[in-house]
Amino acid sequence: MCGIVGYVGNIASVNASGTGPHQALDVLMEGLRRLEYRGYDSAGVAVVAADGIAMRKKSGKLANLTAELAAHPLPEAMTGIGHTRWATHGGPTDKNAHPHVVDGGRLAVIHNGIIENYAPLKAELLAKGHRFISDTDTEVAAALLGEIYRSLPGDGGVEAGGSADGARLSEAMQLAAQRLEGAFTLLAAHAEHPGTVVAARRNSPLVVGLGDGENFLGSDVSGFIDYTRRAVELGQDQVVTITADTVTITDFYGAPAEGREYLVDWDAAAAEKGGYPSFMEKEIHDQPEAVAQTLLGRSDVDGRLTLDEMRIDADVLKTINKIIVLACGTSAYAGQVAKYAIEHWCRIPTEVELSHEFRYRDPIVDDKTLIVSLSQSGETMDTLMAVRYAREQGATTVAICNTNGSTIPRESDAVLYTHAGPEIAVASTKAFLAQITAAYLLGLYLAQLRGNLFQGQIKDILADLAKVPAKIAKVLANEQQVKDLARSMSETRSVLFLGRHVGFPVAMEGALKLKELAYIHAEGFAAGELKHGPIALIEEGQPVIVVVPSPRGRDSLHAKVVSNIQEVRARGAKTIVIAEEGDESVAEHAEHVFYIPETTPLLAPLLTTVPLQIFACELATAKGYDVDQPRNLAKSVTVE
Ligand code: M6R
Repeated sequence: MCGIVGYVGNIASVNASGTGPHQALDVLMEGLRRLEYRGYDSAGVAVVAADGIAMRKKSGKLANLTAELAAHPLPEAMTGIGHTRWATHGGPTDKNAHPHVVDGGRLAVIHNGIIENYAPLKAELLAKGHRFISDTDTEVAAALLGEIYRSLPGDGGVEAGGSADGARLSEAMQLAAQRLEGAFTLLAAHAEHPGTVVAARRNSPLVVGLGDGENFLGSDVSGFIDYTRRAVELGQDQVVTITADTVTITDFYGAPAEGREYLVDWDAAAAEKGGYPSFMEKEIHDQPEAVAQTLLGRSDVDGRLTLDEMRIDADVLKTINKIIVLACGTSAYAGQVAKYAIEHWCRIPTEVELSHEFRYRDPIVDDKTLIVSLSQSGETMDTLMAVRYAREQGATTVAICNTNGSTIPRESDAVLYTHAGPEIAVASTKAFLAQITAAYLLGLYLAQLRGNLFQGQIKDILADLAKVPAKIAKVLANEQQVKDLARSMSETRSVLFLGRHVGFPVAMEGALKLKELAYIHAEGFAAGELKHGPIALIEEGQPVIVVVPSPRGRDSLHAKVVSNIQEVRARGAKTIVIAEEGDESVAEHAEHVFYIPETTPLLAPLLTTVPLQIFACELATAKGYDVDQPRNLAKSVTVE
């Protein structure tokens, strides 16, 4: 939620490609363009110019702010902060947009998160005579910061011959952060410190970008990827002060602290649409590469898993007697797919739990529990809190994550990164397939370690996995067939999805994609559940998309699902079927059949999901919706 960017440069700053120095506004707007997927209710920027803070903000998408800046340009400046908002406190209006400028126009503040104790703080500040313009908790935090700043025996800033490094502002931020409860990333710029931006973070993302004579802050590295790939991961409860030449990190009490520097393993081009009309379409087409990259270098020629990142004692992993997968949304569906494989291969009972439900139900977790969190962003607050809770109960934690430098991996015992590359579209696609792939590798690794599978079996499964990227490419090559159907269904008001075994979470993921993108009613059911209630929904013309298991699978599931297709069709449903190549038996029961290449039944979700993604994307496009930024959503849900 909310994208945040901060910048300080100097007149001599140059970037990697030798250009520069940069105007703060250019850096901020480019950063906001890349971060807009985190929230797009409103946007704003503030720069510290020669005669103080200058600010513009506008409700709606970033384009509105761009127009506002064209009509009312900002003065030149080398320091600034920018924000793109996902509304929590207060509607998405101009006045609630960030930055919030207080202290007689001298202090500008932006914020991501929720200040839980804003009400008593606001009452306290009102009693002292503060007047608030917006409905936000952010303005309360800004007023508190201003109040503390003024109370400090400061140096008055450079104009008064004081320090250029913003020491007074940093100290004020530390003191303010001590008083705030909840989740926050706060960035502040002050007219008295024209070469400084100060930030505080608790439970909310913030990364530092290291430049040459310039430094950056961003909610994630996309905020500054055009300028540098050198990033610093911050810890919990830290304050960071950037100037053009320095980065100073402390805790909330002023004690020096350190961040972990790393090199971002993708560049700005990876975060572009690459010729596709939307990021979502690009990311759907990135999937062969996402799966291939996630598999790369994780097994040797003998088919032995070599997960170097799994820095957990083998003896600990051998004594694990339960796995709990924690995730939300699409990531939770990836977890549900993985459950089938992990239990089958490792014989360890595996539960999948929505992170936000987990810690509120007194779950049974101990030192023999392995927690596997799945999160594309690594910042989902619900999942972060659930992982923390599990650690407190003594569990061992592994993060499967797509974002280097994010909080969940940092707070876990081990991390298995998915290498899907940046996922910009709000609806998750390539991260889903990469998560399933990584979770499968983890399952095979545990099976290898615990001796549940013979080495030859693991080698065979890995060989099948290695063939998946080419098979996804084959599914993509037939996308037009799916697109044509989606376009013909653009007036549809409801679609039901059925699946069984690993096809069940795929059905739910297909429904989620359609809800998110096309805003129509969609539900995924276990096909076996149909006769227990959902079949009552079927009426003449109701579209039902069925993920059919392989006829080569176990326990006659195929035949049972074919019966389900017949049952809904007999009641008037329009049946659309995803089936394995060569499965001719389904054709007579379906209006449309999309064939996917043959694969091991457990690996089928890596293929069957793809037509469902294309279907949702195309149907939403046909309705004229923005598939990259669906209404009300944000990419990274960093508040509970
Ligand atoms: O970053 P995460 O994987 O933790 O995010 C989890 C969900 O918020 C995310 O998958 C969400 O459901 C997407 N909108 C799905 O398309």
